[in-house]
Amino acid sequence: MKLAPSILASDFARLGDELRAIESADWAHVDVMDGQFVPNISFGLPILAAARAVSSLFMDVHLMIDRPERYLRDFADAGADGLTVHVESTAHVHRAVQQIRELGKKAGVTLNPGTPLEALRPVLADVDLVLIMSVNPGFGGQKFIPHSLERIHTVRRWLDEIGSAAELQVDGGVSATNARAVVAAGASNLVAGSAVFGRDGAQAGLERLREALK
Ligand code: DX5
Ligand code: ZN
Repeated sequence: MKLAPSILASDFARLGDELRAIESADWAHVDVMDGQFVPNISFGLPILAAARAVSSLFMDVHLMIDRPERYLRDFADAGADGLTVHVESTAHVHRAVQQIRELGKKAGVTLNPGTPLEALRPVLADVDLVLIMSVNPGFGGQKFIPHSLERIHTVRRWLDEIGSAAELQVDGGVSATNARAVVAAGASNLVAGSAVFGRDGAQAGLERLREALK
């Protein structure tokens, strides 16, 4: 079970401290938004590079940008350990996955809540991570879409059927209230933004999630 706090919910003016506060987590989830693929702009290469420079966490970069293949090398050079692309963001998702692997990084694929899961199947055997979005991407702090549990369950079955050890990550509205159910549905990796950084500091937030998963 891996926890991947999303730094989108952190205090950017104190990014170094925030990263230290999640040092006991497994990964840092880095949400890149371009104002095109999603209706919001977050941050890009320089912030990833700054985070990389002060943290040894696995940098899990979620690219919510149009035609991500244009920037894969740049994000790899800026310190990404894993790169996740949306099936809706490119006509060439298979090529993008290959490119990520050629860059020596972990390749992830994801899709929006309204996209049929079938879109994953052609690349399922070629990825290190499948991300099931449990909110519509673009903003932190949204409510978990309950139907996501079924989608997680289906993808868990597909991965097991092909003997894949890929991470099954879930992103959006994950909290201490639903984390157990998400894991029971088959997730191996939980992204959490507001549930970690939201109230009384990241360490307390992480602790609440760990408690909930016991
Ligand atoms: C949403 C992002 C998420 C977001 C999660 O577009 O992909 O990673 O930061 O935030 P919470 O956990 O607050 O829903
Ligand atoms: Zn994300």
